[in-house]
Amino acid sequence: MTTPPLNPALFHLDREHLWVMHCAEGPVPRAAMRAVRAFMQKELQPWEMRWEEDFLGIPAAVRGEAAALIGGRAEDISLTPTTSSALVTVAQGFPWSPGDEVLAPLGEFPSNAWPWLALNQRGVAFREVPLWEGHRAGAEAWTSLPPTVEADPEARLIAAIGPRTRILTLSWVRFQDGLKLDLRRLGSACRERGVHLVVDGIQGAGAVSLDLEGLSAFATGGYKGLLAPEGLGFLWADEPFRQSLSPSGSWLSVEAATDFSRPSTDFHRAWLADGRSLEAGGPNLLHASALLESLRLLNGAGVSVIAAHVAHLQARLLDALEDSPWRTECVRLKALLKADRLGPFLALHHGGDGQTRMQALLQSGYRRGVFASVREGYLRIAFHGFHTEADVDRVAAWLTGTTS
Ligand SMILES: Cc1ncc(COP(=O)(O)O)c(C=O)c1O
Repeated sequence: MTTPPLNPALFHLDREHLWVMHCAEGPVPRAAMRAVRAFMQKELQPWEMRWEEDFLGIPAAVRGEAAALIGGRAEDISLTPTTSSALVTVAQGFPWSPGDEVLAPLGEFPSNAWPWLALNQRGVAFREVPLWEGHRAGAEAWTSLPPTVEADPEARLIAAIGPRTRILTLSWVRFQDGLKLDLRRLGSACRERGVHLVVDGIQGAGAVSLDLEGLSAFATGGYKGLLAPEGLGFLWADEPFRQSLSPSGSWLSVEAATDFSRPSTDFHRAWLADGRSLEAGGPNLLHASALLESLRLLNGAGVSVIAAHVAHLQARLLDALEDSPWRTECVRLKALLKADRLGPFLALHHGGDGQTRMQALLQSGYRRGVFASVREGYLRIAFHGFHTEADVDRVAAWLTGTTS
């Protein structure tokens, strides 16, 4: 048995709850709970709060850990409440001209569609590109064929870039089918064409290694693979791209904002050049205390180590399902796994079984204490650094209808 890179004992995981759905919501480590308690204790006694250490120090530490996690610079990180708000910041702040276009794969999670659709009033179009033959979304999502290793989604996206395309936006790992897109290839194609690549990274962050080369922006919430509570995430933006966005206009997005020896009402100040220029005002210190602990834990283990562990567990589950009714899906997913095409969850396609059968399957999992999720025709099994081989065997027993 291999040792998981994140010690399961650091979490509040019990035998009754095998949680394989961090693609919906990740568990927080106990350390995050302790940090929140300690912070609330200070809120009870505000004289215990320290300006440098807490008000400035906690957000700065989160930016630092976030940067380390994705291989970027702390000054390029902006703390944002959600993935959506990070993408809205980009969408609203970008210097559009009427007739410009945003390109996206078909079937993005709504967080990465509505911020761009909202630009319609400013004359900016949102165009979706099917990623493989038989790819469907919207009302037809359940009739979609699943992606296979033969598909070349990047080629389709690159070919769809047109003269008015300013931004290509996409999920690094897709929320329903779990396909991981090749950011390196897309980034370099975008750079060659003067197009910005903006990435919704929430389904990969914390469990998949990232290369920021060629990206203009990367947005994520903290509550899935980053193992923090809902309410805080971050935006990474490449410096020249960030400079092209309108600043948020918060009181903390200007130079010397917290130097109270200078009148706060002196508005002759420059906007900050770093990621704080896009933040929303007074930091969410409670959430930041939790996210900081989660990020430290992930960085301590190393995302690449976690990613390798997850891939190992995925391969083990697929091996175990080989001679089961999931056989066709095993073949499809094994090929995708081997080609490094998968994020941290295996998405088993319903194969015509439909909504009712998938829901019944989920319910049977809950009765066994296995908590998975279904989205748009895919049963999603998400592994992370704290899962063990025994966990995989339990999921396999559920899916093959045997006892564990
Ligand atoms: C791909 C993707 N983006 C974004 C979100 C959620 O975004 P937010 O952080 O705005 O809640 C989800 C949630 O499931 C998702 O799967």
